[in-house]
This record gives sequence, C-alpha cells and structure tokens, in this order.
Amino acid sequence: MRRFAPMLLVALALFAAGCKKKTPTAPEGGQMGQPVSGGGASGDTILLGEVGSLTGAQATFGVSTRNGIELAIKEANAEGGVKGKKLDVRVYDDQSKPEEAAQSTTRLITQDKVVLILGEVASSNSLAMAEKAQAAGVTMITPSSTNPAVTEKGDYIFRVCFIDPFQGYVMAKFARENLKADRVAILQDNKSAYSIGLTEVFEKKFAEMGGTIVAKQTYSQGDTNFRGQFTDMKEKKPQAIYVPGYYNDVGIIARQARELGLTVPLMGGDGWDSEKLFELAGNSLDGSYFSNHYSPDNPDPRVQKFIADYRAAYKGTPDALAALGYDAAKVAIAALKKAPDLSGPAIRDAIAQTKDFPGVAGTISLDKNRNAVKSAVVLKIGDGKTQFVTTINP
Ligand code: PHE
Repeated sequence: MRRFAPMLLVALALFAAGCKKKTPTAPEGGQMGQPVSGGGASGDTILLGEVGSLTGAQATFGVSTRNGIELAIKEANAEGGVKGKKLDVRVYDDQSKPEEAAQSTTRLITQDKVVLILGEVASSNSLAMAEKAQAAGVTMITPSSTNPAVTEKGDYIFRVCFIDPFQGYVMAKFARENLKADRVAILQDNKSAYSIGLTEVFEKKFAEMGGTIVAKQTYSQGDTNFRGQFTDMKEKKPQAIYVPGYYNDVGIIARQARELGLTVPLMGGDGWDSEKLFELAGNSLDGSYFSNHYSPDNPDPRVQKFIADYRAAYKGTPDALAALGYDAAKVAIAALKKAPDLSGPAIRDAIAQTKDFPGVAGTISLDKNRNAVKSAVVLKIGDGKTQFVTTINP
C-alpha cells in the first residue's frame, strides 16, 4: 500500500492543478493562500504584493489590473529594475470577497514581507485591505477604488484615480446638461460601499442642479430578479435610470429593464467597465452612458503606445482597470527609485510626493488626502462597444 502513496500524491497534485486551470473566468487564477505568481524575496529582488479579484463575481477587474501591473513591471525590469534589483510581484486572488482580500493582505505583509501592496479594485475589498496595510505601516496603492473612505484609513493608503464625490457629480451634470433629464430613478447595490457612495453623491448633486429623483430602489450583488424594482420605477416615469453597480449585475439589470418595457437610457459609473458587460447585456445598453477613467479613443501617443504594447502582450484592448493598474505600478516604481531606502516611512513619503506623473489614465498629482485629482470621461454604449462622448474636469 505504502509504495503507491507517492504516485497517489502525484496523481492528486496533477488533478488539483488540472482543476485550477479550468477556472472559466480567469484561467491563471490562483486559490486563496497560494500565490498566483511571483518568486520569493531574495537579495537581488524587490518584492511587491498584489491582491485582486482574479476569480469570482468581478473577475475581469482583477485580471485586467494584473495585466496592467505586469506590463509596467516588465518594462521597469527591462530598464534595469530599481536600485540595481529586479522587481517581482506576488499576486493573491481574493475571489472578489472582502474577507479574502484582508487575509491576503496580512499574508503579503507577515509571510511574504512585501515592500508595497497594489490593489484592490472594488472599494469594499480595498477598505478591508487598507485596515491591515495601515496597521502594519506598509504602503498600499489602490489603482481604481473610488470610495473616499479607502484613503481615509490612514497615511499609508493612496490611490491613483479620482474619488466618487467627483464621479457622482460628473453623471449628475451629464444627466442634466447633456441628457436634459429632469426626472431620474436610481437602482443602488446596497451591499457595495462603491454603489452606496456614488448614489449618495449623485442624488445630492442632481437635486442641487434642479433635477428630481423620482424613485430609489435597491438590490444586493448577485440578485437576478429586478421585476419589483422596475415595476415601481416605471410608474414614476423616469427619463433615465442611474445604476451605479458592477458589470456582472448591470448586464442582467439592463436586460430586465428592457424586458419590462423601460426603454430610457441607463447611466452608470466606472464599475460598468468590462468586456463581459456586453456579453451579459446584449444590445440592452445601446444608448446608455457611463463615467470612466480613460478612453482607448484618446489619441495621445503615450496612451496609444500603451494600448499597442498591451495588445501585443495580452488579447484585447486594455480597459480602465488595466490602464490604472499600469499607472499604479508606474507610480510605485518611480517612488521606489526615489526613496532613500525601502523602509515603510521612506516609501510612503516618496509616494506622497507624486506630482504631475504622466499616467495613461491621466496625469497624476496626489493631494494631501492621498487621492489623485483628475478628469473623467463619459462613454456611450452602442453595438457592444464604447464610444468617447466628453471629458469632464474637476
Ligand atoms: N471604482 C470602483 C470601486 O471603487 C472600481 C472600478 C474602477 C471598476 C474602475 C471599474 C473600473 O469600487
């Protein structure tokens, strides 16, 4: 019996590896507790950490971000690395869950001893991470979490994107001035810090601009039936509906709205940004709009070079997540080069000084609250594609 044990182990290991590869949403996605990539920290390597949703409900967020970060790291290493050392990234998959994001952060800090952490996308996950990073004095940069509370966790927490008080204002202004809407309804995800925050700002700004919120309904991430909410909304005759959720839910929401006869434009935020949105929604979102960080239509040569490099390395056009992941890693790399040493306070101080940094998703200057102040774009959906409509400045 004992003689067969090693073979059994090998067979089990192969089977497990096979299973992992079959994860449909993110072929290279790892399990919690097992790094997806990245070598150990050694004398000639500087190890960074990354936490992302490589599998689960918002898997495209994590995969795009990881690609963007990887591209920036490859470029930096090709140019000689940092302080004579190569950079490496240890990536953990949090399966799109805040608890897993927190645990991965602790593991990166205590076990892998990374010098800096990149992530997350969804604000609820970043909030869970920020708690841990701040307590340990390890710098964290979220590429794309827009909820204000994330960087309020403390002086080690930064972001390279704008925040939701601005993003909510952008769509309120767009609804009033471009869509000429007086009456708007809102469908909020009451399980997401991001959705709750955006709703709050939109509601306030839209009213300040003279509009009326005629209905406000909620759902919870993962819900599949929105009949009740839309039946009520329809009676209130909105001219547009604001749905500040994530693509995986919004795709289904859009289909049902149309099935129930609501044909007005839907409006959303950056959380709509995913190729999967179009798979889920079909044509239901044609004529709808969302705010975002970047548009691949931007003719700036820096942006177009990034798009070409990204396409050569991965399939498809980079979304805002990929662009912001790339920018966050670039900002981190520049600061690691500039910092006098790689201690926690030295890295934190170097990041805090980021000013006029030429990112692909806009120029990054961090304010005293560690947020980037940047313009936003509004994109229109048609034929399963997005089209640039306008830029709105802070
Ligand atoms: N801003 C979203 C959040 O904070 C995440 C996101 C950013 C999603 C960019 C898509 C594109 O939760």
